Amino acid sequence: ITVFTRVGAYFEEYLNQKSRINKSFSALSFARSSSDGSFGTDEGLFVQPEPLASTKAVVEKICWQISLQMRDQQQARQELPEGRKMLEFRSNLPAYKERETILSVISKNQVVVISGETGCGKTTQIPQFILESEIESVRGAACNIICTQPRRISAMSVSERVAFERGEKLGESVGYKVRLEGMKGRDTHLLFCTTGILLRRLLADRNLKGVTHVIVDEIHERGMNEDFLLIVLKELLPHRPELKLILMSATLDAELFSSYFNGAPIVTIPGSTHPVRTLFLENILEMTGYQLTPSNQIDDYGQERAWKMNKQAPRKRKSQIVSTVEDAIRSADFKEYSLQTQESLSCWNPDCIGFNLIEYLLCDICNNKRPGAVLVFMTGWDDISSLKEKLQTHTVLGDPKRVLLLTCHGSMASSEQKLIFEEPEDGVRKIVLATNIAETSITIDDVVFVLDCGKAKETSYDALNNTPCLLPTWISKASAHQRRGRAGRVQPGECYHLYPRCVYQTFAEYQLPEILRTPLQSLCLQIKSLRLGSISDFLSRALQSPEILAVQNAVEYLKIIGALDENENLTVLGRYLTMLPMEPKLGKMLILGAIFNCLDPILTIVAGLSVRDPFLTPLDKKDLAEAAKAQFSGAYSDHLALVRAYKGWKDAEIDLRGYEYCWKNFLSFQSMKAIDALRREFIGLVTDIGLVDSNTTTCDTWSYDVNLIRAVVCYGLYPGTCSVVHNEKSFALKTMEDGQVLLYSNSVNARETKIPYPWLVFNEKIKVNSVFLRDSTAVSDSVLLLFGGSLSKGDADNHLKMLGGYLEFFMEPTVADMYQSIRRELDDFIQSK
Ligand code: CDP
Ligand code: MG
Repeated sequence: ITVFTRVGAYFEEYLNQKSRINKSFSALSFARSSSDGSFGTDEGLFVQPEPLASTKAVVEKICWQISLQMRDQQQARQELPEGRKMLEFRSNLPAYKERETILSVISKNQVVVISGETGCGKTTQIPQFILESEIESVRGAACNIICTQPRRISAMSVSERVAFERGEKLGESVGYKVRLEGMKGRDTHLLFCTTGILLRRLLADRNLKGVTHVIVDEIHERGMNEDFLLIVLKELLPHRPELKLILMSATLDAELFSSYFNGAPIVTIPGSTHPVRTLFLENILEMTGYQLTPSNQIDDYGQERAWKMNKQAPRKRKSQIVSTVEDAIRSADFKEYSLQTQESLSCWNPDCIGFNLIEYLLCDICNNKRPGAVLVFMTGWDDISSLKEKLQTHTVLGDPKRVLLLTCHGSMASSEQKLIFEEPEDGVRKIVLATNIAETSITIDDVVFVLDCGKAKETSYDALNNTPCLLPTWISKASAHQRRGRAGRVQPGECYHLYPRCVYQTFAEYQLPEILRTPLQSLCLQIKSLRLGSISDFLSRALQSPEILAVQNAVEYLKIIGALDENENLTVLGRYLTMLPMEPKLGKMLILGAIFNCLDPILTIVAGLSVRDPFLTPLDKKDLAEAAKAQFSGAYSDHLALVRAYKGWKDAEIDLRGYEYCWKNFLSFQSMKAIDALRREFIGLVTDIGLVDSNTTTCDTWSYDVNLIRAVVCYGLYPGTCSVVHNEKSFALKTMEDGQVLLYSNSVNARETKIPYPWLVFNEKIKVNSVFLRDSTAVSDSVLLLFGGSLSKGDADNHLKMLGGYLEFFMEPTVADMYQSIRRELDDFIQSK
């Protein structure tokens, strides 16, 4: 049976390699495998052992027969009534009108760039055109198309759609493969997979043997994985002249990709969208009798401009609607809309204007507007689920039977996915709460109203993209345009941007490619694990190369933390870090937490650093919230405060009082649940790579020793270190590069007047006007000396040098010697583990 996947040039090579195997026997086994009846009368031909010379001919014949059969099946299905109906639907898609052009350009060129408006049929049609045309020209059995998607969910939903359009079940000619899941059969010739899966395949099979077409979809998103894949493919093309590469993009920077591939031809699919009425926040508020005006209020950090609202006489006063909007206005804080600092972003929570306004608009649409689905773009799944909960508990949307409330995000179940595409019954309003996934990769046809909160959050846990970036940021103008376009798919629509126009004008034109905006540490580790040579040489061949400095920083960082050695080779630690899909510093903590038997609290810390800050600080209740967090302090550590808060929540959950606990302590219930889920995921990862025994993961013997946890946190966060300098009444913080730095006001250490430790290790520093530190833990000299840096041999000296002047002053040579020898012992211990 495997024979069927190996036909064509590859199989010939296979037979040559195995020349000592009795080829007649091979041919005979084909005959057997075909005796399931699929070859009808020709079966007899193969029953006789064939002489060696004709083996190739036999294989070709089988291949041809399979292809012939595929063609007949395809034709038969197209002639069924459902097939005709589907063809009619498909032929109305703009991509279908370009079918012949696209196929002919692909046949004449090795690389083709195809661009077209979202929803024109690129993802569902183009791979299908290629498959159909290969089948029509009786090459079906030899063709092997791989189409990559940036996200799991789109790989799954698109493959299902394409199989459906072909009148088949998923796993027949069309399949999918994502991490830990897949549906693929022996007859699968078109495979949708995540970009990460294709990268992993390249690790094992550099030449993509047997693959005839690679389609890279959604390249305009410029994800790190896609940019990375393009470098690898560009280098593969000359070695595989018959391999076709098709790049598909939604927006108009097709030239960039074309010139990267030496002027590859571009096919543009003309779009057809309906006009969309666009409203910004000021227009929306005006409808309700409120006005938004800029104020010259100065905020905590300096000159940022905040907004205030002036209430005017409300023009319309309709009981429920007005009371909702008044709630919205009362809790409004428009700092949110002008401040782009991390501090203000973390205040995006269920009680702020965003949610109330969304609620108000949904209510208005449900009660007063024409039929049509509503698509709400939100920041992330935690916001989506909070809003969903809120909408379900309030009945502002009217009769619950007349509202179909759905969610659309990266981790939704596939049963839920299907509902999104279905048309609801008459009189039922479909409302889809979505992340930016619905911007380009998923098309919901019946959308007429779009609500856009203006923010997006990257959450990526695919193993090959190790940099989870979880903070909400403003989207680009191109994204806002895409979101608006979703309203005009089938008829004229309306788009409500929940931010003022002047804020929109500050958006970047396009989102910066991920490779230029995220730290490259994880990517560098990937390059090393795929053995792609020198990191800087490799990255200099990217579509847009990251700055040399950024690359140097990343390599330098990886050396300091001990993931790469002096010659840029992966160390043992580095190899383990490539197996953990998270930032290296978090991976380091998990590894050391496992070795030092304190994994349980470390899991909480690592999970806590991977989700939205669980400690909420609503702007109007800042003091109360900070006081609530202070209850968990006591160890001069935000990380330990989180461990305590989580433990408290877990205990409260047993009595089903987790929600109440969160409410009382200004904790985000969603973040707590997310931490819980991530802890489970991480423990699975740590067990998979053999750091802990699967039997021990549930036992309660993990240490909660505060100083041990401090040491592990320090091991992970180094070199993020600052010194604590006390003066009469308080203390100041200094780092080597920035001089004086400040703590975020919600840090437990910010409330102290004295810190009885000489150092703080911190998770992140952010430059606003001054440099602010987020999440810190106080550590002693010994901990820093013993756990800072890479803990690898010979490094102790470097480390001591790095701590610079302070240590020279503080350390006598004999003390330094002692530390060095303890460090070496410690290192030996860790290595031996
Ligand atoms: O990739 P592109 O944005 O160009 O469009 P697509 O995803 O291929 O979708 C083309 C059309 O197929 C959409 O406009 C929908 O009408 C339909 N479609 C669907 O009905 N169900 C899906 N799961 C995907 C697409
Ligand atoms: Mg698409």
